[in-house]
Amino acid sequence: MALMNENYLKLPGSYLFSEIARRINSFKKENPDADIIRLGIGDVTKPLPPAVVEAMKQAVDEMSRPETFRGYGPEQGYEFLSQRIIEHDFKPRGVELELDEVFISDGSKNDTANFQELFGLNNILAVTDPVYPVYVDSNVMAGRTGNFNDKGQFENIVYLPCTEENGMKPDLPRTEVDMIYLCYPNNPTGMTLSKEELKKWVDYARENRSIILFDAAYESYIREEGVPHSIFEIEGAREVAVEFRSFSKTAGFTGTRCAYTIVPRDVKVYDSKGESHSLNSLWLRRQTTKFNGVSYPVQAAAAAVFTPEGQKQVKELINYYMENASIIKNGLEKAGYKVFGGVNAPYIWLKTPDNMGSWEFFDQLMKKAHIVGTPGAGFGASGEGYFRLTAFGTRENTERAIERIKTRM
Ligand code: MLT
Repeated sequence: MALMNENYLKLPGSYLFSEIARRINSFKKENPDADIIRLGIGDVTKPLPPAVVEAMKQAVDEMSRPETFRGYGPEQGYEFLSQRIIEHDFKPRGVELELDEVFISDGSKNDTANFQELFGLNNILAVTDPVYPVYVDSNVMAGRTGNFNDKGQFENIVYLPCTEENGMKPDLPRTEVDMIYLCYPNNPTGMTLSKEELKKWVDYARENRSIILFDAAYESYIREEGVPHSIFEIEGAREVAVEFRSFSKTAGFTGTRCAYTIVPRDVKVYDSKGESHSLNSLWLRRQTTKFNGVSYPVQAAAAAVFTPEGQKQVKELINYYMENASIIKNGLEKAGYKVFGGVNAPYIWLKTPDNMGSWEFFDQLMKKAHIVGTPGAGFGASGEGYFRLTAFGTRENTERAIERIKTRM
């Protein structure tokens, strides 16, 4: 008899975005003619930039000729891409990285979910609340948490509430934690941390020998000065942090799949005898065993993001989505909503009117305005009473959605 991994039984229902898809489908069955505007999952709507498409086509052509065909690539990614990542994304910000500190992958969702495998099951993890559910669920599946309690939280996780009282910025944990997940610019609140604020976390991690798992998937949306794009801009972060980056939201790769994770050689974890081990070597060991790299055409396409035309086209994409963010933010504010985010991030976090529950607001918005968003409660207990809209829709739908919220809600 095959026994199951009973940790899966601790997970409530389905994954957040699968539950939303289920509700949309059932609404559509009953209202087949409803013109639904989707501002729920943060999926891009603009096609891949032309420079990226051209590079991918050329790479596919290479794969069609015996003299340029490539089989398995390096598990850690092609040097032509890692080199460009270092030169464009880190060097200009004063961050020096070696090639073997960059790991190309097929997505930050998988990397953030898989990375926890490198840590002992007795580690205590801290997450912001609200939080991108993948960090929590992957640790639940691994058995690093207790059960789901009636507060809507898992035992053995330290939740760091991000509320209006603390400006949606987490306070340092009061008890010692070992693994800290931070996502900035934040999904779902769209808020950022300043360098000084992020430094407090790096200092905490250095003092406590904890590791910060820093998700920077939305860094290209930062508009304001003084907001760190990488945790490695903070002194000492090389000793205690890992950073996840993605081409998904930057260059429209949600369906193409390419991302990268930076694991500095200086980051150490400890065995039960207190001896230190390199996290970089552990991740390399993990990836070489379980992953065969991202396809050559996709990596060639990602490298084109860093060409002058690629940079120009990607900036245009980001400007387009950030213009949507302003339309949503300003429109909601005019309609009397309290709104967070949308300045350095493609997410707008709104307070539901009249203290309405997040899922109730979800249902009302779908029924009255035919708009899909994401209920804040799906991101954690502190998200109850809030709601997330994404700026990744088309301009037309974004404008229509705001008009509908003003007139129908
Ligand atoms: C979201 O909507 O939170 C994101 O699209 C999820 C993801 O990137 O996996």
